[in-house]
Amino acid sequence: MFIALSTFTIANEMSPEVREAFVNRPHLVDSAPGFQRMEVFSPQDNPNEIWLMTYWADEDSYQVWHKSHVYHDSHQGIPKGLKLVPRSAKVRFFSKFAN
Ligand code: HEM
Repeated sequence: MFIALSTFTIANEMSPEVREAFVNRPHLVDSAPGFQRMEVFSPQDNPNEIWLMTYWADEDSYQVWHKSHVYHDSHQGIPKGLKLVPRSAKVRFFSKFAN
């Protein structure tokens, strides 16, 4: 299993809109080959931080989706006016080896 963790921090007052956008997400990714599931978190000590984990069968599946128009289309609904803390957006990759 391959996991991508995308983190970013919202700089303005738009956390509620961003959460709403994730709740109502377009679900385009759901049919991407190798996609398994995703989860979205905020740490309790900073509700402006978003931690998004996507779970994939393997790294190739993630890379194919990430390069596709589906990835772009999945972000059409990002709330207008959203500002991020500069350089806060990061993606890290994980291999899972135990439950
Ligand atoms: C760089 C800053 C990013 C911001 C501000 C952001 C924001 C958002 C928001 C607000 C949504 C929900 C609304 C929508 O889907 O239109 C979303 C969906 C999503 N994002 Fe991001 N995102 C970022 C980067 C990433 C990265 C790097 C990944 C890859 C790991 C990613 C993966 C996804 C996925 C899988 C969805 C769900 C799409 C669907 O349901 O089809 N995002 N993102």
